[in-house]
Amino acid sequence: MNSDVTIRRMILADVESVFQIQESLGFEHWPLSEFEEELLRPYIFAFSLEVVENGEKKIAGYAVFSLAADEVELLAIAVVRTWQHRGMAQKLFDFGITVLLRVGAKKVFLEVRRGNTPAISLYQKLGFLQIGVRKKYYDDKEDALLMSLSLGTGA
Ligand SMILES: CC(C)(COP(=O)(O)OP(=O)(O)OC[C@H]1O[C@@H](n2cnc3c(N)ncnc32)[C@H](O)[C@@H]1OP(=O)(O)O)[C@@H](O)C(=O)NCCC(=O)NCCS
Repeated sequence: MNSDVTIRRMILADVESVFQIQESLGFEHWPLSEFEEELLRPYIFAFSLEVVENGEKKIAGYAVFSLAADEVELLAIAVVRTWQHRGMAQKLFDFGITVLLRVGAKKVFLEVRRGNTPAISLYQKLGFLQIGVRKKYYDDKEDALLMSLSLGTGA
């Protein structure tokens, strides 16, 4: 990994940057206070991508997972535009899954907008398969695709 790039557990001090990333990418997000509360919950596993730019540390991406028994839900993954297409989302996902495997995760699920081609391509590259569709799932009536990935030998 590039020495200017670190992936680590998300801390409360990262939340404001995470919100700025969500704003800049223009996708819907959790209310700030709710996000801070969620971050403290034991079933939430959130990771930040910290980079050094012009000698300054900044948050350039993040991934949030939730764990219930041995099932994981990928709740969000995002990388700022200037750091996209450099394998960062893949690294964030792999880092999170390595942690989650240690605590018994066997399967990952997610929902994604039918029109979110970059995210769908990412998930396909990570090995996710489409397992269903939720018609008009989002507020603007766009469909959600349901995807899943089995980890290791646990099906
Ligand atoms: C989806 C997203 C996280 C990908 O981040 P990224 O760091 O650029 O992704 P990576 O560089 O790790 O790409 C890994 C693979 O994903 C796919 N991919 C990523 N961006 C893509 C794009 N714009 N178009 C098509 N495929 C894309 C490719 O298969 C890529 O592999 P390749 O580089 O060998 O072609 C990023 O585009 C993003 O933040 N989007 C907005 C937030 C979002 O919609 N998140 C998902 C819902 S929460």
